[in-house]
Amino acid sequence: MVPPVPPASAEEIREANTRYHDVAAENYDSKWGIDFGDSGARQVSAKLCKALGGAPCHYGDSLEIGAGTGYFTLNLLRSGLIGRATCSDISPGMLQTLTANAGRLGLEVTTRGADAEQLPFADESFDLVFGHAVLHHIPDLPRAFGEFSRVLRPGGTLLFAGEPSRYGDRLAGVPKAIGRRLAPVWRRALGAAAAPPHAHASSAAALERVVDVHAFSPGELTALARGAGLEQTRVSGEELVANWFGWVNRTLETSAEPDDVPWAWRLYAYHGYLALQALDRRMLESLLPAGAFYNLMLAARKPAAGRPFART
Ligand SMILES: C[S@@+](CC[C@H](N)C(=O)[O-])C[C@H]1O[C@@H](n2cnc3c(N)ncnc32)[C@H](O)[C@@H]1O
Repeated sequence: MVPPVPPASAEEIREANTRYHDVAAENYDSKWGIDFGDSGARQVSAKLCKALGGAPCHYGDSLEIGAGTGYFTLNLLRSGLIGRATCSDISPGMLQTLTANAGRLGLEVTTRGADAEQLPFADESFDLVFGHAVLHHIPDLPRAFGEFSRVLRPGGTLLFAGEPSRYGDRLAGVPKAIGRRLAPVWRRALGAAAAPPHAHASSAAALERVVDVHAFSPGELTALARGAGLEQTRVSGEELVANWFGWVNRTLETSAEPDDVPWAWRLYAYHGYLALQALDRRMLESLLPAGAFYNLMLAARKPAAGRPFART
């Protein structure tokens, strides 16, 4: 049984996030199948379109919060959707991997170690402030949203994607449990040895229970944006069946010695995930409310200079 986690202070959550992601940085891209080729660029542009509810424009100066290894910014640069990119993160290890990825791809990015609640940037510096899978790690969200709004230029766009929804997060326990049950049979079928107990595994598992501090309803995300003076808020949901498939496979894969997992299996898992993502997109996203999906996306605007705030 998993022991109950004593409530952590905001400082402990930030410190745990830094340590956890510093350790995760080295293998982060392979663990999550992060792609910086055409497929990654297509995925990220599609997420932007979905969050905004239409084609994105070109953004001169962008700031990514919790940029990790660069999944969003580097793919947006490759797609030509942003001009000058700044990436911030609380984890120096993540920013080191991001810098190496950018170098390999020949892309120019400014990096800055920063806590989302205290951004080291001047007021009204960016046309786009965005992030992927980061809000759920931040202890004081109203304070962080105040910072996002402060550094946005009037008329600028705020966009966050990949945030766990309340329902989705609860349901994800089911495919993880299925994966754990199937793991011994699956390893035998593939001739894969069990992953050796990793020196950091128990401390990583303990940190994991501290770093994820929120799951959201669509209304909560909307309220955070409006509370920071933003308007034209829009919340959408994505990934349901694809996510279940992904969690079962990821649980199976992490139970095995990585070199024993055949390439054919990895291809099946990757392409299966993309196929089910398309099924979610084409069939389920228009039928179900945003809160039914695993991931939520939020888009909002900072009112243009001299225009009264419109509560939409
Ligand atoms: C789940 S990872 C996502 C990384 C990347 N955005 C992606 O989608 O691949 C979350 C990232 O948020 C960063 N992070 C966590 N808490 C943060 C905070 N308070 N301020 C800034 N970044 C934070 C972590 O270091 C990590 O890089």
